[in-house]
Amino acid sequence: MNNINISKGFVDKAVCVDNLKEEIEKLKKEKNALVLAHYYTEGEIQDIADFVGDSLALAQWAKKTDASIIVMCGVHFMGETAKILCPDKKVLVPDLNAGCSLADSCDADEFAKFIEENPGHTVISYVNTTAAVKYHTDIVVTSTNARQIVESLPADEKIIFGPDRNLGNYINSITGRNMLLWDGACHVHEKFSLEKILDLKKEYPTAKVLAHPECKKVILTVADHVGSTAALLNYSVKDDCDTFIVATESGILHEMQKKCPQKNFIPAPPMDSTCACNECSFMRLNSLEKLYNTLKYELPEVEVDEAIIERSKLPIDRMLDISAKLGL
Ligand code: 13P
Ligand code: SF4
Repeated sequence: MNNINISKGFVDKAVCVDNLKEEIEKLKKEKNALVLAHYYTEGEIQDIADFVGDSLALAQWAKKTDASIIVMCGVHFMGETAKILCPDKKVLVPDLNAGCSLADSCDADEFAKFIEENPGHTVISYVNTTAAVKYHTDIVVTSTNARQIVESLPADEKIIFGPDRNLGNYINSITGRNMLLWDGACHVHEKFSLEKILDLKKEYPTAKVLAHPECKKVILTVADHVGSTAALLNYSVKDDCDTFIVATESGILHEMQKKCPQKNFIPAPPMDSTCACNECSFMRLNSLEKLYNTLKYELPEVEVDEAIIERSKLPIDRMLDISAKLGL
C-alpha cells in the first residue's frame, strides 16, 4: 500500500478492470464500505452510490451507518463532516482536490476575527465550510434546515451567518431577521443568467423555475420554488407542471429525470455560454475510476485534527438534533 501515489490528491494508478461497476460493488461488500454521493456528482456516480442526497441527508447517513468505511463522493467539506461525526471510521474521498469555492470564501482566521469584532452574536455557519470554520460556530445549518433553525432562535437573538451572502439574504428576507452576513458565495450559483432564464420562460411559457437559495436575489425573485437540492427534487416530483427550468448545479437533473422520466428538465444557463459554469468543477472530479481506486487502496483518507473534531462536532450535532426534532 505504501507505494501508492496520491501526490496529485487521488490514487494515481491506471485502472485495468473490465467491469468497473461490478468491481466497485464487490469492493463495497468486501470492505463493508458505504458510498455516499451528492446530487451534483456525475450520474454514474449517483447510480453506483448506496445513497444519494443533499448535504443534510449525507451527514445524517454518515452519522447512522455501521459501515467500517465511508466513501464520500462529493466535496471535501462533506468528507470532513462525515469524519467529524464518525472519528473512529475511515472516511475516504475519491479526490482530495474536490474543494468548494464557497468554503474557500471563508478563511477560518478571518471568520474568527469577524466574530471577535462583532461580540454577542450566535454564530451560524452553513455546512459548506471547513472544519476550522465550524470550530468557531455555534450551530451549523444546511439549505434544508437553515430557515427552521434560524426561526427556532428567539426573534431578538443577534446572529452572524456565514459564509453564503445569498442564502443569508434569502433567510433574512423570509424570516424578517437581520443577520450579520459574511460576504461569500458559490461560483456556480452566482453565475446564472436572469436574461437567459427569462428567454427560456418565453420559449416554455408554462415552465416553472426552481432555484437553490445560493443563487443571487434576482434569480430567486423569478423562481416559483426556492429550496435545497432535495427540496427542489421533491417539488418537481409532486408538482403537476411538466417543464422545469432548474437553477442549481445541473447534476441534480439526473435524479429529477430518473424520478420523472415524462417531465422536461432544463438546466438554467450561466451568463457565459462558452463555459459549463452550471457544473461544479469540484463535484465533477469524482469519477468511477477514482472511486474504484479509493475503495481498493483505501486512500485518500480525510483527516481532521482531534481538537478540531471535538469542538466542531458540537454545532453539527446541534443541527442534527434540531433537525430530528423538526422531522427534517
Ligand atoms: P444542498 O446539498 O444543501 O442542497 O447544498 C447544495 C450545495 O451547494 C452543496 O455543495
Ligand atoms: Fe461548493 Fe458551489 Fe460546488 Fe456546492 S456547487 S460544492 S457550494 S462550489
